[in-house]
Amino acid sequence: MPTFAILGATGNTGQAILTLLLRDESVKVHCFVRSSRKLHGQMPELRDHKRVKIFESSLNDTPILAECIAPCDAVFSCIATEENSPGCSIALDTAHAVVAALCHVRCVKKNYAPLPRIIVLSSGTINDHLCRDTPTFARYFVWTGFSNIYADLLRAEAYYRLHRAWMTAVFVQPGGLVHDSQAGHAVSTEKEASTFLSFLDLAAGMIECGSKDKDDTEWDWVGLSVLPTGKTRFNPKAPFAVLRGCLWTIFPPLYWILHSARSG
Ligand SMILES: NC(=O)c1ccc[n+]([C@@H]2O[C@H](COP(=O)([O-])OP(=O)(O)OC[C@H]3O[C@@H](n4cnc5c(N)ncnc54)[C@H](OP(=O)(O)O)[C@@H]3O)[C@@H](O)[C@H]2O)c1
Repeated sequence: MPTFAILGATGNTGQAILTLLLRDESVKVHCFVRSSRKLHGQMPELRDHKRVKIFESSLNDTPILAECIAPCDAVFSCIATEENSPGCSIALDTAHAVVAALCHVRCVKKNYAPLPRIIVLSSGTINDHLCRDTPTFARYFVWTGFSNIYADLLRAEAYYRLHRAWMTAVFVQPGGLVHDSQAGHAVSTEKEASTFLSFLDLAAGMIECGSKDKDDTEWDWVGLSVLPTGKTRFNPKAPFAVLRGCLWTIFPPLYWILHSARSG
């Protein structure tokens, strides 16, 4: 029975992947979360689910993360942030944790079975090839709105690539996302979508990447986009998210001032 791990199963992408995998009776799922209570609140049907195992821990807990991912065919790395906070490092922190867990599997557990393929959630904006037809102004605007997230994603990708000799990763780099029903998807190495992609179609694309045969290396270490093949709706929150993120890029101290005022 194929086994998949979802890191960040409580997030938008993690939930969409879990939703699709639960529909497939032929797979087992390992969910890595920092709060199983939150996950059970989102999906009460997971209590005592025969095909789902939940690992509640933090990224610093290498042995638990290793136990979660070791028996898997693929790992969907969906730990992320949507907030363009100055200095954010969640993608790099996750890359460090995943590589440490893979080292643990090999060097501490002496498990020499094939390692799982890591399917990394990233963003199309950081991929020059996928974005070559995107108008420069539009890309610049979006880049400014999520500059800290993109800097983090680039650092994480560079870190994974340092380990190319002994592990395998695929970088899934979609354009704008929206909560919508499945419209159909296509995985592309050539272009970015010009319309929004639903989280469920993104999930289907990521599952397609994770389900590839181990010998099929076509997409390994490649930045891929997922395109919608049907109609999806516009995400009205997106322009505001970009504008808010631009503020944190242009005046980083403002982020911390507002953040500490809100929490204090
Ligand atoms: N939105 C878009 O239009 C768009 C477009 C292209 C690419 N993307 C990519 O998608 C990402 C956002 O994905 P998403 O919407 O699925 O994110 P999300 O809903 O915010 O989910 C983030 C997940 O990461 C977990 N997490 C966060 N910090 C953690 C930590 N320190 N330790 C362990 N787990 C942690 C969260 O757990 P908790 O539930 O416990 O907080 C949650 O499960 C962006 O960063 C970007 O790279 C987004």
